[in-house]
Amino acid sequence: MDNRPQKYAVLNNKGGVGKSTIAVHIAHGLAIKGKKVLLIDMDGQNDASLFLGFTSEDYHRSLYDLLMGKSTSISDCIVKARDNLDLLPSKYIDRINGELYKEPDLSSFLQSRLSGLEHLGYQYVIVDCGPQRSKVNDAVLHFADRIIVPVQVEAASVRAIGNIYEYLSDLGLDSDRIAMVIPNMFDQRTCDGKENLNFIKEFFAGSNIVTAPILRRIKITECTELGKTVYEYDEEASKQFENLVERLASIDGR
Ligand SMILES: Nc1ncnc2c1ncn2[C@@H]1O[C@H](COP(=O)(O)OP(=O)(O)O)[C@@H](O)[C@H]1O
Ligand SMILES: [Mg+2]
Repeated sequence: MDNRPQKYAVLNNKGGVGKSTIAVHIAHGLAIKGKKVLLIDMDGQNDASLFLGFTSEDYHRSLYDLLMGKSTSISDCIVKARDNLDLLPSKYIDRINGELYKEPDLSSFLQSRLSGLEHLGYQYVIVDCGPQRSKVNDAVLHFADRIIVPVQVEAASVRAIGNIYEYLSDLGLDSDRIAMVIPNMFDQRTCDGKENLNFIKEFFAGSNIVTAPILRRIKITECTELGKTVYEYDEEASKQFENLVERLASIDGR
């Protein structure tokens, strides 16, 4: 039996579209369903860690130590975030990025540096990525089995949808890796919102990767500011993520 975790990167070249929010809520949602999940925070702003209530005071070792050859084991860098949910935090992402310019081949870089992960019993590894192209994101895209793309239902975000395809193609990766496109912060009351959502659906017509939209909910913004997830904060808002979690849990099938 294949015991290796399913690895997902949550990525979009734009900032503020909901990558960290979605990464955290998918991760915690799966954990609540009893799946063993590791969330890797690979964005310099550390929002995913913050959204789970962790500041840099709470961890002394991080992905930086692991990737930059400091003698440490992966388990020493992981912190328990919730039942069934662990967090691998990061520091100095810019320094890691600078170092990666020296690596001749990024296609197996994370796979080999994080090989210890395969034996820790996780069913899912979710990587929260920073915006924009970077060496770190190149490495993550090679490492992940599948990609989750949040798109803010707003004109500028929608116009930029094609960028992810260009990025994958430049790395020589197949766009089949995109598992889900998640319209986020949808406001069904505005014509603009409906128009942009339709654009997303049409762009991906013929595939079934576009999920139901996540509505803009103030409770979602509030909980991330408090270092809690919606599952701990507001039952009604937590329903926004149910569908996504179900969908992922069924893709995996374990
Ligand atoms: N569906 C939503 N409804 C309301 N606020 C949201 C929603 N999704 C994300 N947010 C808020 O929008 C902001 C940006 O989200 P974030 O996940 O940090 O984006 P990114 O990681 O793409 O930069 C955060 O304050 C977050 O709480
Ligand atoms: Mg983020």
